[in-house]
Amino acid sequence: MPDSIKDKLDETLKRVKGLGAALAGPRHVLGVDVGSYAVKVALIIDEGGGPALKAWGYLPLTAKAEASPEERKTQTVNALRAFLIEKGIKVKEAVTSLSGNSVIVRYVKFPRLTKSELSATLATEAEPFIPFDINEVQLGFHILDDIVEDGLKKMETVLVAAKKDLVASRLEVLQGAGLNPTIIDVDSFALENIHERAREPKALAGATLYLNIGHMVTNLSIVENGVTRVVRDIFISGNTLTKAVMKGLQVDAAKAEELKKSLGIIVDSADKEKALAEGNRELLGVSQAVTAVIKDLVAEVHRSVDFYLSQGPERAIARIVLAGGTAPLKNLAKHLGAELKVPVSVLEPFAFLKNPPADLPAVLAPSFAVAAGLALRRNRDWI
Ligand SMILES: Nc1ncnc2c1ncn2[C@@H]1O[C@H](COP(=O)(O)OP(=O)(O)OP(=O)(O)O)[C@@H](O)[C@H]1O
Ligand SMILES: [Mg+2]
Repeated sequence: MPDSIKDKLDETLKRVKGLGAALAGPRHVLGVDVGSYAVKVALIIDEGGGPALKAWGYLPLTAKAEASPEERKTQTVNALRAFLIEKGIKVKEAVTSLSGNSVIVRYVKFPRLTKSELSATLATEAEPFIPFDINEVQLGFHILDDIVEDGLKKMETVLVAAKKDLVASRLEVLQGAGLNPTIIDVDSFALENIHERAREPKALAGATLYLNIGHMVTNLSIVENGVTRVVRDIFISGNTLTKAVMKGLQVDAAKAEELKKSLGIIVDSADKEKALAEGNRELLGVSQAVTAVIKDLVAEVHRSVDFYLSQGPERAIARIVLAGGTAPLKNLAKHLGAELKVPVSVLEPFAFLKNPPADLPAVLAPSFAVAAGLALRRNRDWI
């Protein structure tokens, strides 16, 4: 990787966690969420009358399962480039984010240091907490709080480590499409930006657990008083659901995907009786396959909630918010609400806009959660 890019990356990853909600500055950024199922792009511009969604793109990636990483990358670059040309988008600054196996987020208590002191010793301080070779990762940090523990002055810090090859590959995609990547964030931290702009301040009281259920990964995060306190990736997601439907109903991937999207979960006993009476094998089969996978997801959510509750007194999860392409799965929110005994809703990532986009199909909106959060970054975050 050229040094200039590396320097820039070190800088950008240091800012991997937003440094305050800086909304000033006229310079706009494209939020580019490169998922494994679809690329989501959002451009939010404030022209005086409040923020507006100036452009959006939902670019499905149709590469075959056996396509090589290089082929996928080429497809992504081409889709992105074609979209930018078609929409005549001139904004070049792009913000993107990562999650999954090659990214680690750790909450660590370090002895109290200044920011520059920590920068200078970051690799040494971080090494014990990072399960990767420290030479193979880009590190970033954000200082959350000064605390006193056992009489010692400490600071609570979020550490982020991303494998360099993943970072380089993402940079190549954006640069290949003619964009200038300025910040690399973490998917869950992008959601925090949306959380802060939720319409009802009252709705923010108590902790919110986000489940961004994508195709290959579900990003779980818990936001308390505007600050993300738990971040974890779980590998039970849309793809797992499709595979379970394929197996349960003995259908191919395309058919399973279609059935999953159109049928979802049966939650009412009356609906179940009706399906049984009608011998609706597809509905019963999809519901059963999906419910079994969701049971595993629920167990993982319980683990994270228990961990969070064990971290301090008077903690409670007030609500769960679903995001990502899988969030609109029929009856998923209702089913999770009953299983987890907490109100569960589906995120509307553009609800904070004065005029929610009329041309964006409602069923696609939750998959824009990360892209919308990224598009809300402004130049003060990275200068
Ligand atoms: N209406 C729907 N009902 C249920 N599932 C859906 C629906 N629409 C899309 N999905 C599923 O959502 C998933 C894609 O979600 P999303 O766009 O959030 O993933 P991604 O960001 O591309 O992937 P990842 O971040 O995991 O790499 C796919 O598994 C797809 O089948
Ligand atoms: Mg995603």
